[in-house]
Amino acid sequence: MTDLIQTERDGATLTLRFNRADKKNAITAAMYAGLAQALKNADSDASVRAVIITGSGDAFTAGNDLKDFAENPPKGADAPVFQFMDALASFRKPVIAAVNGVAVGIGTTLLLHCDLAYAVPTAKFALPFVNLALVPEFGSSLLLERFVGLRKAQELLMTGETFTAETALSLGLVGALVPAEELLATAKAKAALLATKPPSALRQTKALIRGDLAEVKARIGTEAKVFGERLQSAELQEAVSAFFAKRAPDFSRFE
Ligand code: COA
Repeated sequence: MTDLIQTERDGATLTLRFNRADKKNAITAAMYAGLAQALKNADSDASVRAVIITGSGDAFTAGNDLKDFAENPPKGADAPVFQFMDALASFRKPVIAAVNGVAVGIGTTLLLHCDLAYAVPTAKFALPFVNLALVPEFGSSLLLERFVGLRKAQELLMTGETFTAETALSLGLVGALVPAEELLATAKAKAALLATKPPSALRQTKALIRGDLAEVKARIGTEAKVFGERLQSAELQEAVSAFFAKRAPDFSRFE
């Protein structure tokens, strides 16, 4: 497995850590594959009772690697990014997000598939898909509304504006803000608490709260189709070129 995903076992808790701090933990295809494999293994390993997802350095994750979007876009339903989405969306045990810094794109949408989420007060969040000429992914066009309500979901997904940890807390995207030095310990304490619960009852509780998994998976698939088309667009090329040239994109020539 790629060393850009670190795994750590602590009792019944498995911690998965994005380990690409120099690129703000932007996620490559190899990293998605590593995450998917680790989640599949954890799901079938009875000794794992809970999973924590966190980042290294000062970022949770800056989302999908933008070079990959332009040069190595996902091909087909079994591309690593979709394997990761499927593994997390279907995961049967509790997943806890410990958001240690900026969480962009899938860094925010993956929270919709976690059961508990804590963030440092300095964390920043964004769903900038439209700014990149993309559309919402990972079921966020369906699930974000459940967390924040339709009006706010529209605002976050249509403006792509960055929002603070305080806002994420008030919207219910994270359950509490925790100082950086206590974040992992807090997540691990919750994981240890969950490990004491009867596992079948906990799995069934999670499944009931999640609701119709087939609906979630269908929406992920519908979004992926449009997303894949958008990745081929001239609008996306402009957005990605602008990011790496450190300039503002100019969409004025597009209709
Ligand atoms: N893909 C590829 N590289 C990325 C990246 C991404 N998603 N996000 C950051 N990086 C790289 C930068 O290119 C930079 O590389 P360099 O040092 O070789 O120039 C490095 O990570 C540090 O990023 P930088 O932008 O200098 O850090 P920052 O603290 O000023 O800003 C972010 C952090 C996350 C706000 C900013 O990097 C950002 O907006 N990234 C893009 C997020 C995004 O649009 N993701 C896709 C969502 S669908």
